[in-house]
Amino acid sequence: MNSIRQRAGKLLLGSLKRNAMVHRPSLSVTRPYSILNQLPPARRRIITPWFATFLLGGVVLSGYGGFILYQTLTMWPPEVRSDLRNAVRAKHKGDLESSEQHFHRAWNTIQTLPIDLLGSQPYLKLTGMAVALADVLELSNKKQNAYDVYVHALKLLQQDQVKATLTGPERLRAVAISSKLGELAKELKRSKTEEEKWLVWAVEELLRIVKGPSKDDSSEDVDYRHQGSFNLPMLALPSWISKTDIGAPLEALGSFYAGSGRLDFAMPLYLQAISLLIPPAPKKSTPEDRCRGAQLMGNLSEMIMRGAPTPETLHQAEAWASQALAVTKKARADASKPIVQCEEVYAAALFNVATFRDMAGDKKVARSLYRDGLEHARSIGMTEGVVEASRALHRLDMGDGAEVKMS
Ligand SMILES: *[C@@H]1O[C@H](CO)[C@@H](O)[C@H](O)[C@H]1NC(C)=O
Repeated sequence: MNSIRQRAGKLLLGSLKRNAMVHRPSLSVTRPYSILNQLPPARRRIITPWFATFLLGGVVLSGYGGFILYQTLTMWPPEVRSDLRNAVRAKHKGDLESSEQHFHRAWNTIQTLPIDLLGSQPYLKLTGMAVALADVLELSNKKQNAYDVYVHALKLLQQDQVKATLTGPERLRAVAISSKLGELAKELKRSKTEEEKWLVWAVEELLRIVKGPSKDDSSEDVDYRHQGSFNLPMLALPSWISKTDIGAPLEALGSFYAGSGRLDFAMPLYLQAISLLIPPAPKKSTPEDRCRGAQLMGNLSEMIMRGAPTPETLHQAEAWASQALAVTKKARADASKPIVQCEEVYAAALFNVATFRDMAGDKKVARSLYRDGLEHARSIGMTEGVVEASRALHRLDMGDGAEVKMS
């Protein structure tokens, strides 16, 4: 598995390079900048459930951003405080229109201020304001406007004279925004190329961040104690990156490629994400992360099965499914209390391994795993799992297995 991962590392970089369509927009920012005047009306809302849970790292991109703003009002320059306060208050009351107006004004104002007025990590604050505005726009279903605000915020971070000054958290902010743009591009049905551009930039920047020391010389932000303990050679993880943040852009891009049928691009990304979420011993990761990794193993297994089944692909796919099951079992045993995601991944893993055994004609093990899966799915109220496992058991009892013909 290790060698697969290593190869994947190389493959990934290769595939990213092949995608030379990644152009960094160059922008000269003119301030003040009013976005809202120039925008077409909001477009149709398209719900993508996967992305709803995506990007835990972007907590600031959610309503939580508003909370932070409120808690730390005093760290903002006086020029924007009252708009900020009003914006946050209006948002809490559900008056999105008024909230948007105030955030918009605060965003325009803050861009006219000298950057040093914003104290340490100024770009976290500057783009935080943009993100807060965009969040309200999203909530008002003005996704197109939100998109433009995010684009603008990202471009501020990508300016040549700014890039070199950014601290780790500021660079991660750029990763989060770029990932968010990928998500919105999809919802807004922008071109695949555009969606890909954002997702690829996020992954590339992420890899640049974890690869080398950041430009950040306030070294208390950075923890290099774990240097070299990850199996990706370039990884020296600064402490401010939780692995949750790290896996997300890789997962997003992997999912994008999987969705467009480019499995050769998708697979190495999944492998990278898995090896970040489940680092090899002696490094440990949380049960949550391990379950997330196990879920990706399940995705990988499923992806491998999309091709015509041959003995090798079947074997490979089953190996990943079994690995997912083993990881989940261990993570559940290690967790001090049940973790929703782990429980669901566990149900899926039981079902997947059962299916492979079923296909191999190993009815006895298949039946027992389906039963475990059924029981477990029932215990967590996972209807889909209950239905699928019952159906499979019924089919087994009818003597009609799921054996496959090898090509
Ligand atoms: C992995 O599979 C799960 C369950 O089918 C799905 O919800 C999730 O979106 C997939 N993740 C990725 C990154 O493809």
